[in-house]
Amino acid sequence: MSSRASDAPWHHLGALGFFLFWVIAASGIYLFAFFDTSVAGAYASVERLSREQWWFGGVMRSLHRYGSDAFVAVALLHLLRELLAGHFRGFRWFSWATGVVLLWFIYASGIVGYWLVWDRVGQFSATAAAEWFDAFALGAGPVVRNFLTPADVSDRLFSLFVFLHIGVPLALLMVMWVHIQRIAHTDTNPPRALGWAVLGTLFAVSLARPAQSDAAAAFGALPPQLPLDWFYLFAHPLMYATSPAVLWWLAAAATLVLLALPLIARRRPAAARVNLARCTGCGHCAHDCPYLAISLVPRSDGRAFLRQAVVRAEQCAACGICAGSCPTAVPPLRGPVQPGIDLPARALQAIREQIDRANLERRALVFGCRHERSRDPVAGACVIELECAGQLPPSFLDYALRRGAAAVSVTGCRPGACEFRLGAGWTEQRIDGTREPHLNANVARERIRLQWWRPRNTARAIQVAVFIVAAALLAWLSFDPPYRPLGEGEALVRVIVVHAGERLVPCRTLSAAELAARAPNMRAPEECARGRHPVPVRIELGGKVLIDEQLAPSGIARDGAAQLYRRFAVAAGRKVLRVRVAEAPRPGARAWEREAEVRLAPGRVLTIDFRPQQGGILFL
Ligand code: HEM
Ligand code: SF4
Ligand code: SF4
Repeated sequence: MSSRASDAPWHHLGALGFFLFWVIAASGIYLFAFFDTSVAGAYASVERLSREQWWFGGVMRSLHRYGSDAFVAVALLHLLRELLAGHFRGFRWFSWATGVVLLWFIYASGIVGYWLVWDRVGQFSATAAAEWFDAFALGAGPVVRNFLTPADVSDRLFSLFVFLHIGVPLALLMVMWVHIQRIAHTDTNPPRALGWAVLGTLFAVSLARPAQSDAAAAFGALPPQLPLDWFYLFAHPLMYATSPAVLWWLAAAATLVLLALPLIARRRPAAARVNLARCTGCGHCAHDCPYLAISLVPRSDGRAFLRQAVVRAEQCAACGICAGSCPTAVPPLRGPVQPGIDLPARALQAIREQIDRANLERRALVFGCRHERSRDPVAGACVIELECAGQLPPSFLDYALRRGAAAVSVTGCRPGACEFRLGAGWTEQRIDGTREPHLNANVARERIRLQWWRPRNTARAIQVAVFIVAAALLAWLSFDPPYRPLGEGEALVRVIVVHAGERLVPCRTLSAAELAARAPNMRAPEECARGRHPVPVRIELGGKVLIDEQLAPSGIARDGAAQLYRRFAVAAGRKVLRVRVAEAPRPGARAWEREAEVRLAPGRVLTIDFRPQQGGILFL
């Protein structure tokens, strides 16, 4: 078995997340320098960069695109890996919960990026996202109104997109920082070889299939096919296959289930305990603890040491690495081992008694990590289980050899794949003398073996194959399979009505005396009782009734504007369209009507917009 730290990508998914974030940030800054923040200029500026400067600007754009796709993939694989390892329970709840929050930030950052390009995909995504938010009918008018006609999409809206596409990733970076706050010696840089391999793969995909825009955004028609980036935009087709409300329920349910997973109870092993009588406050345990569960605080027992160790039980993984690091964890000639810190459930004294009980003459002794998944026992060896390879103080190796063991092995998960992250690495360093406490220099090194479980699938050939498959998936899923926003021979009819119905009681004009009696800031010329009539809307297309409803006024007092936004996929063809909107459901109420024959070609998007100030019912 090898002692080389694993450089397999699946052992560094968190670090790869950080690495990809920097790749995306660096390429994004370059793109931004050439980006025109206006509706009219955005598409053209991205096109110019991709075509005229394809050899650098185009490659940067592709790196930004594929790096972002890889970022999602890596985050989801990281989630899956931690999920399968059960790493959502107990002390890990904090990393888990902040990881779930990260997913929302990743998607928000990426999706807005598509809107900036303002091609048909960006326009489709922005409209779909607006329709999703409109499921809440928030009162300020449907969000989708900002995307329905060319006049609706303004440069100000584009400035908002840019603000979001910079602001949300910055917030994402902050949450990434919070995510690793309960983890010591965090692996935020992948091994150099892995980093280069990932960067090389991204460059290769960028050159093989440069990221390109779809046609420029257009109103009034949907293309038969859209080259969607399925890594980010999968939720839009899902919403159209179900409904905005269902997508909200799915997103909320998935988030809540993931957030609730840490509540699944499993008996938590007792946290490490400090034995103040033996603790000298040296700090080795605090430095070696993988989960920042130990602090050094001023001495409380009056002894001549400055500090003492204190364990925060709720952060403790009960891995025992601290016991392995404590210089006082040495088996004495007589009497029990009394380390400054120890695990109540698997104390070092209990391990020492197992050594004492074992008949070690000419036998090998194996100290085996409990979490090691594939034992490779030495024939006839005596095996003693540890919580983690890092739980073993080096003095115990010396002790076992002195008790007659022919050889001593320590087995565990490989550095990089250790259940408690750092145990295997610390053990190696303690034995080779680069980390305290050192193995006694007189111990015969040839009688000591470190046997790290090497995951069988880390052969180089398999890693290369994984990179090739990942590259192919990136290049493919980033554009394919194309999405058909409408069925064969279908057109889309969208209806938007935002209008305040007639007041239930007409307003009364105040007299000059009444006005004078009021405070100056309350002198509105009219006094209106709250409450409005519903707004009746009827729409018929080709003799078929699409809508026949009375829209309730919004607001708690029921005196806000009534709102409606609906979309219908309809069979294409020439049809008579009749629309009627009234201010109240009573004869004689003010009403608008329009009837026309419309030609709905396949893919045509007809927007029926009610704007009384601009002539009433508009067919756009
Ligand atoms: C942008 C995405 C993410 C990044 C950059 C990231 C980064 C990291 C890093 C650097 C670590 C420490 C690894 C180590 O040193 O051993 C870590 C640990 C962890 N992450 Fe993430 N993470 C991300 C998303 C997620 C997600 C989505 C989840 C799950 C919901 C998650 C759950 C965890 C857990 C449970 C740990 C602790 C592992 C342990 O204790 O051994 N992370 N993450
Ligand atoms: S390593 Fe041992 S002696 Fe040092 S601070 Fe921790 S418990 Fe105390
Ligand atoms: S048992 Fe592990 S997690 Fe707990 S204090 Fe010791 S080293 Fe830290």
